[in-house]
Amino acid sequence: MDWAAERKVASMNPHPIRAYGPGRVNLIGEHTDYNDGLCLPFAIERGVTVTAELHEGGEVVAPGLADDDRFLQGAVAELRRAGVDLPGSTLAVASDLPQGAGLASSAAFCVAVSLALYGIAGVEPPRPVRLARLCSRIETDWAGQETGLLDQLASLLGEDGRAVRLDMRTLEARSIELDLRGHVLATLDSGASRSLARSGYNERREECRRAVELLGLESLRDADDGSGLPAPLDRRVRHVITENERVDAAVAALAAADLAALGELLNASHASLRDDYEVSVPEVERTVEACLKAGALGARIMGGGFGGSVLALFAPGVTLPDAAIGARAGPGARYL
Ligand code: GLA
Repeated sequence: MDWAAERKVASMNPHPIRAYGPGRVNLIGEHTDYNDGLCLPFAIERGVTVTAELHEGGEVVAPGLADDDRFLQGAVAELRRAGVDLPGSTLAVASDLPQGAGLASSAAFCVAVSLALYGIAGVEPPRPVRLARLCSRIETDWAGQETGLLDQLASLLGEDGRAVRLDMRTLEARSIELDLRGHVLATLDSGASRSLARSGYNERREECRRAVELLGLESLRDADDGSGLPAPLDRRVRHVITENERVDAAVAALAAADLAALGELLNASHASLRDDYEVSVPEVERTVEACLKAGALGARIMGGGFGGSVLALFAPGVTLPDAAIGARAGPGARYL
């Protein structure tokens, strides 16, 4: 043991860096982010914490992760590409966010690990949109998982008790008070294996690209009618158009404290994701039904689809279904 070297390292960095990235719930606005559309997510009170400590070697290591962890490799590579000189460091990862449950655990990890690495390098992290893009590249280019910016921006821009209306065309983020008047938003894992998630998600994105091409538009944000397109592209476009409208209707329902209307919008979003966008699976349908039977005012599939969690809105005092987890809006990513 080289104590002198250890002391030197310790004096350079007396405190380990701890960075936190929350998961997210998307209240409404699904499969709109990569179509330049609108979304209304909030960061939840669960997430991923990455602790980084300097060590003598030149490498970034994370003993708790597989050597070939693509997210870590991607984070290290993307930061280096951004010109950050990374010192040798050891990362430890802790999470209270379930994986594969549609709560954006990969984005939460990418956000936390990137912040930890910026921190240990002593470099100020970029502003949220740039950092969200960097994190999204880790998922897409390194882990082979296409993703828009919804999850990353939700994690980075979270605020206690507030959601954020994201306009993905202008990247304007508007903070929205999430006063549910005692109602509870809860997520319930459908338990469906997400084996189709990646291929299904990528296929939907491809369909949207084709629709944009056929319509001769820059993005589906500009579409006002896709009914002339061949099936199923006509239905896909209808989902995107109506879902954007539902986001602003949800913002208005929140402002008017009309929670019944918000519940209806969740139901309408689900019907559209099931019938027009076709991203539901039988387990999700059963989970939505279980929520509605338990008295939910509205319930819908959330996230990329083909499994994952259902989001439901319950009136005050209603007993949540077994295994449902209340989702409160918590603060965004930060150093602890
Ligand atoms: C996944 C992606 C997001 C978004 C949603 C669907 O969570 O990572 O970018 O496209 O699906 O709304």
